[in-house]
Amino acid sequence: MTFPIDRPRRLRRTASLRALVRETDVLPRHLIQPLFVEEGTGVRRPISSLAGQHRWSPDTVGEIAVSCDEVGIPAVLLFGIPAEKDATGSGAWADDGVVQRAVRAVREAAPNLTIVCDLCLCEYTSHGHCGVLSGRVLGDGEVLNDPTLELYARTALSYARAGADIVAPSGMMDGTVAALRTALDGADHEQVAILSYAVKYASAFYGPFREAADSAPQQGDRRGYQMDPANGREGLREASLDEREGADMLMVKPAGPYLDVIARVRAQTDLPLAAYQVSGEYASVCAAGAAGWMDADAALLESVRGIRRAGADIVITYAALDLARRHRDTGVT
Ligand code: PBG
Repeated sequence: MTFPIDRPRRLRRTASLRALVRETDVLPRHLIQPLFVEEGTGVRRPISSLAGQHRWSPDTVGEIAVSCDEVGIPAVLLFGIPAEKDATGSGAWADDGVVQRAVRAVREAAPNLTIVCDLCLCEYTSHGHCGVLSGRVLGDGEVLNDPTLELYARTALSYARAGADIVAPSGMMDGTVAALRTALDGADHEQVAILSYAVKYASAFYGPFREAADSAPQQGDRRGYQMDPANGREGLREASLDEREGADMLMVKPAGPYLDVIARVRAQTDLPLAAYQVSGEYASVCAAGAAGWMDADAALLESVRGIRRAGADIVITYAALDLARRHRDTGVT
């Protein structure tokens, strides 16, 4: 007796059959759009390393926030580029700082949008590192952990006072989530959530961001605090530490080269999980598209689908607004 051939192609024959059996959607509600805000007024400066992305100023950032809100993107992630930097990054916790003013502007322009503030010092320090330097030779555990936590806590409180819904610490100091939770709760900000960059690798894929945010380290690199790309189990450890310290949501970053880590963290936690498709992931697709080597729009959607399929509930991507607009115009998910 001969068996009939098993034919999975039957379910791929038409668009409606494919829709019926599609396992993963990319909908606007899954996406967070990062936005860069610099000092000044009337700014809408294209970022050469990130096609289609701009630097805004506090008085213009409302426009792009409204565009996100209109297409159903639930949240934006704010990065600030201050006019001046110093050794401790004091611009990060200035109540009239660039991010603080942007938070208030976005709140006014799009009251229902969720506002997430990236919380780190590297955009604010003259040396470009994510915390306080020890003064010892670079490369030898140069960023001091606990003194940095105090500055992160000050910054979180300032963002909370400005009206942020979520703070997203991205500096990879040990104990960050506990320090922020304690500070926020102690100042009546227990409603502010923490989205922890729990599993963040020392990645070459941050290159275009460092140009966009002007935050490249002047000396040395971040391997003393960001994770070794070779390590997966260590990511699980970082994720469970942050969960125990009180994180509301976890993140894996970058996303594309770490899909296995996303899947493993997804299996370990019940918290909502975000993944960050970082600047280099986005920029390399855009560059190949501009060269005519592939369809950048299709490749970005495919890569975000892959990140969702790996287990991310939320994808932070520079393509968020474009993807949401395409969804509105064509229904594609
Ligand atoms: C700040 C921070 C970085 C990114 C997000 N938050 C830069 C870094 O760690 O060097 C990178 C985002 C991107 O590349 O899109 N620490």
